Amino acid sequence: MKNEYDNETFFNQYAQMSRSREGLAGAGEWHQLKEMFPPLAGKKVLDLGCGYGWHCEYAAEQGAAQILGIDLSERMIAEAKKRNTNERITYRVSDLENYEYPEETWDCVISNLALHYIESLNNVYRNVYRTLNPGGTFLFNIEHPVFTAREGQDWIYDEKGNPMYWPVDEYFYPGRRHTRFLGCDVEKYHHTLTQILNGLIRNGFEIEWVEEARPSEDMMQIPDMKDEMRRPMMLMVRAKKKEEICHAGR
Ligand SMILES: C[S@@+](CC[C@H](N)C(=O)[O-])C[C@H]1O[C@@H](n2cnc3c(N)ncnc32)[C@H](O)[C@@H]1O
Repeated sequence: MKNEYDNETFFNQYAQMSRSREGLAGAGEWHQLKEMFPPLAGKKVLDLGCGYGWHCEYAAEQGAAQILGIDLSERMIAEAKKRNTNERITYRVSDLENYEYPEETWDCVISNLALHYIESLNNVYRNVYRTLNPGGTFLFNIEHPVFTAREGQDWIYDEKGNPMYWPVDEYFYPGRRHTRFLGCDVEKYHHTLTQILNGLIRNGFEIEWVEEARPSEDMMQIPDMKDEMRRPMMLMVRAKKKEEICHAGR
């Protein structure tokens, strides 16, 4: 499977982002996502698409007993092993679509900004449900369907290069999108809001908390940050594994 995070040019560009240089403090969504974490003391945590391992490190700081971070990219895992080491964290190069998801093993599964690289959310939901202990938490942040809908995923600009508006198109055609990100061609997947939320419900989760990323007051001084108030870029969801799957409704 092709993953741009192992492409040297892309990897080096990613390393320049504030989320890579500063960690969670440099991630625009962190002030919201942080609030959504359940208590982690003594818990077993799995991070799908862990990248540099910032959230694994956070889980360790919160007292999690065992943490596994998996990522498809060898470069990202190598970086995680350099930057966020803790005796309770294990990192593994693994495609999150092929991880074995052992039954009733983890108390909390997190995934930050990796699931829009996955074609079948339904498979992920089914696997995460299986691997969570009853009552366990699935907390993820995925690019927002308003952001991912249109091929290209960019503003429409005026002749001076100012963003005029964010176009939404082809919304009800989920699937592959060719985009430019950090100067490289990157393939992502668009999922509708119905797929993201109803998919959880149909796979036995109870949705507990939903947030759309927006900058905090103190971030508004950062250049271009005001544009983040014009359309949602990320969707964060916290869901709980229910004891029994309810197949009612579509
Ligand atoms: C935007 S980065 C986010 C990294 C990390 N979760 C964070 O928030 O700092 C997306 C990550 O998803 C990983 N990824 C993409 N597709 C994947 C897959 N199929 N299996 C595992 N990891 C994947 C990439 O290698 C990359 O490290």
